[in-house]
Amino acid sequence: MTLEGIKIGIAFTGSFCTYQAATEELRHMAKEGADLYPIMSFHSQRIDSRFGKAQDLRSQIEEICGRSAIDSIETAEPIGPSGFLDILIIMPCTGNTIAKLANGITDSPVLMAAKAHMRNEKPLLISISTNDALGMNFKNIGLLMNCKHIYFVPFGQDAPEKKPNSMIAHLDLLLPATQAALEGRQLQPVIR
Ligand SMILES: Cc1cc2nc3c(=O)[nH]c(=O)nc-3n(C[C@H](O)[C@H](O)[C@H](O)COP(=O)(O)O)c2cc1C
Repeated sequence: MTLEGIKIGIAFTGSFCTYQAATEELRHMAKEGADLYPIMSFHSQRIDSRFGKAQDLRSQIEEICGRSAIDSIETAEPIGPSGFLDILIIMPCTGNTIAKLANGITDSPVLMAAKAHMRNEKPLLISISTNDALGMNFKNIGLLMNCKHIYFVPFGQDAPEKKPNSMIAHLDLLLPATQAALEGRQLQPVIR
């Protein structure tokens, strides 16, 4: 299976240190022929950090995807009624967005996209990057893992000594995890 012609929503949230690796994976997906629709959380659109400027991220992902980012709740909402995405990937997915998703909160373009997409019972793939995965957000990750149509890019601890609660997705597994999710499967092992 290739990604040729597959319509993929790529939703960015505010894990700024992950953007470089995430945009590289986005380039892989574009090379594989995927039809990419970028979506940005309010914070990913706004915050300049030591990892780069928000506008630079936006320009880069719009250039790779070849279209403007969905950047508001009202522009994300039509994903539901038009049902045009085959899969939605939240990459990187912050602890904040995980917690809100698990609790039915819809106050950012990414969360609106997820809610809209899931009404169509199509796959949502989550690529986590959060310092509280094994802390405050452990319960939320567990809750999402047990939800229909939600899949994870396999993930593991990235710095167990210095940041014992931190976990991050293995982005080199994004493509196989996407293909598995499109087939209704979780790529295993999910923790590695
Ligand atoms: C420099 C910087 C780096 C951050 N890195 C992360 C991160 O890797 N993972 C995470 O869950 N939150 C991280 N945050 C916190 C989120 O940006 C914050 O929780 C924000 O509310 C996320 O909003 P969003 O999920 O709507 O994008 C970081 C914040 C800053 C300023």
